[in-house]
Amino acid sequence: MNSFNENPGDPQVVDLILHSAAQLCTLWGGVQRGERLGELGLISDGALAIQEGLIAAAGSTEQILENYRSGHMLNASGQVVLPGFVDPHTHLVWAGDRAVEFEQRVAGASYLEIMQAGGGIVSTVRSTREAGLEEMVRASQARVERMLQHGTTTAEVKTGYGLELETELKMLQAILELDADSPLDLVPTFFGAHAIPPEFTAKGSGGAQAYTELVAGEMLPAVKAWWGEHAADRPLPYVDVFCEDGAFSLAQSRTILEAARALGFPLKIHADEFRGLGGTGLAVSLGAASADHLVQTPDEDIQALGGSDTVAVALPCTPFGLAEHEYTPAGAIIAAGGILAIATDLNPGTAWCENIQMAIALATRYMGITPAQAIAAATINAAAAIGRADRVGSLEAGKQADLILLDIPDYRHLGYRFGTNLVSTTMKRGQILEV
Ligand code: NIG
Ligand code: FE
Repeated sequence: MNSFNENPGDPQVVDLILHSAAQLCTLWGGVQRGERLGELGLISDGALAIQEGLIAAAGSTEQILENYRSGHMLNASGQVVLPGFVDPHTHLVWAGDRAVEFEQRVAGASYLEIMQAGGGIVSTVRSTREAGLEEMVRASQARVERMLQHGTTTAEVKTGYGLELETELKMLQAILELDADSPLDLVPTFFGAHAIPPEFTAKGSGGAQAYTELVAGEMLPAVKAWWGEHAADRPLPYVDVFCEDGAFSLAQSRTILEAARALGFPLKIHADEFRGLGGTGLAVSLGAASADHLVQTPDEDIQALGGSDTVAVALPCTPFGLAEHEYTPAGAIIAAGGILAIATDLNPGTAWCENIQMAIALATRYMGITPAQAIAAATINAAAAIGRADRVGSLEAGKQADLILLDIPDYRHLGYRFGTNLVSTTMKRGQILEV
């Protein structure tokens, strides 16, 4: 993992040395499947040599100081150092808010009832369509800052509040602009199949099936063409589908994901949030990068996850945000040999939470995983869910120097403590951020 100098008398000069960390959690050794989840690769009195935005070496302070020197020394004594968090499921870009619906839910209305009455996702669709690109970017920028403050250095972001080609493309444009203008690395997902748009719910409009055919037959090819014109140097975005009662059936989800796959898009799915329709099994059979939510997942689908590289992304802020009592069955997923990740699901309806430390606090209590397992789920495994495990999610030679310092004496304080920000410093590609 390290490139220590052969000759200790001749230390290599690097841009920055971070040293004396109470605990340096490297998360080295790749994606953590099944019972391997929670291997922190912990080094007490740890240090890192950083050169040109990348990790040159990780080790004990003694080892690093023997082999490297630098004009910039960062003393991390009394702090825990982790890879920057990777948030592999967010709906970061939107305009407006749903505070009124929150009040209705607190008074007893359910998320699906509000959705069926024309609120929910569609209400954010209305405000996002009205907003235009600049307003979308401005509103999202504040959320990007909060994510960085709370230690997230890479995040996935979905479209899905346009539900028509023009606004969906504007959302992709907003994601590209936010990615270019901020240190947060964003990984885009096209989520035109987030909900049935109002134009398709009126009588005689063809309903969900007609919209499914539009997404599969027209929107996906148009997104691919747009991408070729605007972001040809980047891999295609993921394509996601909300497979749920009131959204897209299993058959409709299959139609969309198969069309996406045929066009070369990598895949994701929202599955089993309220009812297990088989979406997770579908995702596995299509080789999707991840299946997300997974609260009501049938046992056979959990077993299928165990034998696949499809990452199970749990979103504990969502049942919490909806005051529900069932969470992702992490123990069963781990026992089956699955790859478990956690994310915030940051969105204006169910979980307006930029802070993945909150997801860790909830996962430890309601999914029954340990702080070490939650940390691995929010770093290296989260990176795997968005195809970035080769670059981020652990502190190893050759990876990006994306890391965080936490003002805590032991990593177990993550999860244990909640409601305050434990991150004191966020570093992206070797640069300390002023956030
Ligand atoms: O992942 N479940 C569907 N979509 C989002 C919620 C989006 C919204 O309510 O605006 C989710 O929880
Ligand atoms: Fe979501």
